[in-house]
Amino acid sequence: MISSLLFACLAGLVSPILAADCTRESLKEGTADYLDALTAGSSTFLALSTSKVHYEENHVEQDIAKGVLSTPIKIDYNLSIYDTTLCASYTEVVATTGHPYVIGTRLEFSGSPQKITKIESVVLDQGDWLFNATGSLLYNQREAAAGGWASIPLGQRDSREVLKAAGDAYVDAWSDANIKPPFATNCARLEGGLYITSNCLLSFPPPFEVTKRSYTIDEELGAVDIFHNFPFLDASLPRNPGTQTNNLIRVEGGKIRFIHENTVCQAKNCGR
Ligand SMILES: *[C@@H]1O[C@H](CO)[C@@H](O)[C@H](O)[C@H]1NC(C)=O
Ligand SMILES: *[C@@H]1O[C@H](CO)[C@@H](O)[C@H](O)[C@H]1NC(C)=O
Repeated sequence: MISSLLFACLAGLVSPILAADCTRESLKEGTADYLDALTAGSSTFLALSTSKVHYEENHVEQDIAKGVLSTPIKIDYNLSIYDTTLCASYTEVVATTGHPYVIGTRLEFSGSPQKITKIESVVLDQGDWLFNATGSLLYNQREAAAGGWASIPLGQRDSREVLKAAGDAYVDAWSDANIKPPFATNCARLEGGLYITSNCLLSFPPPFEVTKRSYTIDEELGAVDIFHNFPFLDASLPRNPGTQTNNLIRVEGGKIRFIHENTVCQAKNCGR
């Protein structure tokens, strides 16, 4: 009697909250819908909010109908992570045929039913930093085949705080030698289409300030993704804010195992 009464009370209290809940499943559905739209070349799709969607490519707000969603893209590979706390996803897309692309997209969802309210993409093609879609595909597939981005067993997962701190340390160490990011001994970095296994630590001449950071954090996949600006690299641009980049990072047991960097260039290969 008491338990059924308690259950009724809890159900009454909990269900309206759960209805608006952001789940892994709902994020997967919305992200798959976006990928289908990218494949179809359609900027109108089901998961999109009917009210105006904030749409950015390479840190510039633009009309969604005029961007990469306006022409069909044959997707060879995608790697997606899901953040149920921020209700967002990040997906890395590689396309090697037709017009080759590597696209990183962060989708933000809200409301009930859940809809995409913000889309931010880094869109890379020929001339962007170390761009080589064939290489991106090869190394992405190689990592995936080795179980590199598999779900981390319960009990071995790092907290959001640990994941975020690892991602921030990676970026902050670029200009501060006192910061020691927690690199795994076998840390590997996919930079554009190039695979670098010798060293994950980078350092750049000061002054160097990384701003405009948008995070997507997935405890199940041990992943943290950061969209941010990149001073210095693009020699054709003023240092600040510089160009836009994205770093997708896999963390295992607190240590950085993989990094995928995709950086946009204004001038061909950032004028270098
Ligand atoms: C994206 O990747 C998932 C997982 O590998 C796969 O099931 C899905 O078909 C891919 N989507 C597209 C549009 O290629
Ligand atoms: C692109 O990457 C592939 C795979 O690593 C490699 O075979 C090819 O030579 C690269 N292309 C260029 C132009 O570097």
